[in-house]
Amino acid sequence: MKKINQILILLSAALFLSGCNLSKKETVKKELFGTYKGSEVYLLTLTNKAGNVLKLTNFGARITWLEVPDKDGNKDNITFGFDTFDGMIAGDRYYGAVVGRYANRIAMGKFTLDGVEYSLPINNGPNSLHGGPEGWHSVAWNTEILEKAEFPTVKFTYASPDMEAGYPGNMNVEATYTWTDNNEIIIDYMLTTDKKTVFNITNHAYFNLHGAGNGDILDHQLVIKGSKFVPVDTFLIPTGELRPVAGTPFDFTTSHTVGERIGEAYDQLIFGKGYDHTFIFDNAEEVDATVYEPVSGRFMEVISDQPGVQFYCGNFLNGTMIGHGGKPYIYRSGLCLETGHYPDSPNHPDFPTTVLNPGDTYKSKTIYRFTVK
Ligand code: GAL
Repeated sequence: MKKINQILILLSAALFLSGCNLSKKETVKKELFGTYKGSEVYLLTLTNKAGNVLKLTNFGARITWLEVPDKDGNKDNITFGFDTFDGMIAGDRYYGAVVGRYANRIAMGKFTLDGVEYSLPINNGPNSLHGGPEGWHSVAWNTEILEKAEFPTVKFTYASPDMEAGYPGNMNVEATYTWTDNNEIIIDYMLTTDKKTVFNITNHAYFNLHGAGNGDILDHQLVIKGSKFVPVDTFLIPTGELRPVAGTPFDFTTSHTVGERIGEAYDQLIFGKGYDHTFIFDNAEEVDATVYEPVSGRFMEVISDQPGVQFYCGNFLNGTMIGHGGKPYIYRSGLCLETGHYPDSPNHPDFPTTVLNPGDTYKSKTIYRFTVK
């Protein structure tokens, strides 16, 4: 009798463990999505215990779908993306992507390190934007599902060769996405190089808390815990000034809708065609920025150890890009909170350094958390 009991206990333990394994495997599903320049591109579907879904792809190590409930429990995708890989290739390649080597602009595509001048691809007026046209958003990264992690977790890695897009150093980059049961996307970045170089890494997801493709984001209520921002010229290159937000339409230290002051005749709103600026985090509290959309009740928090955030509100969107479910992404229908360094830092020695030396490892974490209020 005792023996039978022991066998039964062992059997149920084995069943329980295999059950755990099964559910673990089911939390990250990997499917072939397409091929790009001979590399396989996957669609990864991460489902957390709350049943909410984050979809990623290794093409640009990007977020392409994020399905979370509104205050009544109705789920919708709230980030820009495309239903097919062909749509993604034909469409805007920045949507949801990890951007590098240098996210944002470098003036005239030039910078100097130890007396050597480097030239980058010019792809935005006279400047270099987002690591050039074939930056990290436009390559197939290696994909690893971290089976032993507590939550659904996918690690993307990429070996960026010396002088890729004009930047020195063989660079190894990792972007690891964790989708927690509390509806948090945790992005862990890690960078190393074998030669002195510069970098600025970010994620370029567009969010619309009404649901992607459901109107504009002008009613979204934004808080950015940043008492200074980085003014720019008409080509969106920093002037060098770091301006206090107090008394300006850039003061989001308390909640304001995106649309409330966007039409004001303020120099920076005119130069940026709206908000398209880096805010410098005060880093005085855990949460650096929040977005609340009262109709759905969706609430998003941003937590980052990066020095600032590019708040861009889709001023260049015009409805020609057709996203998930055939929905056009119209003017100002998505906002990005791209955590990172300031634009053009390699040409501004007084900005926080973006130099990475051999032997050093840059590690950084950004969290996007989604709840309802
Ligand atoms: C943002 C940038 C915008 C625009 C956009 C891509 O990061 O701030 O000016 O270039 O990327 O369309």
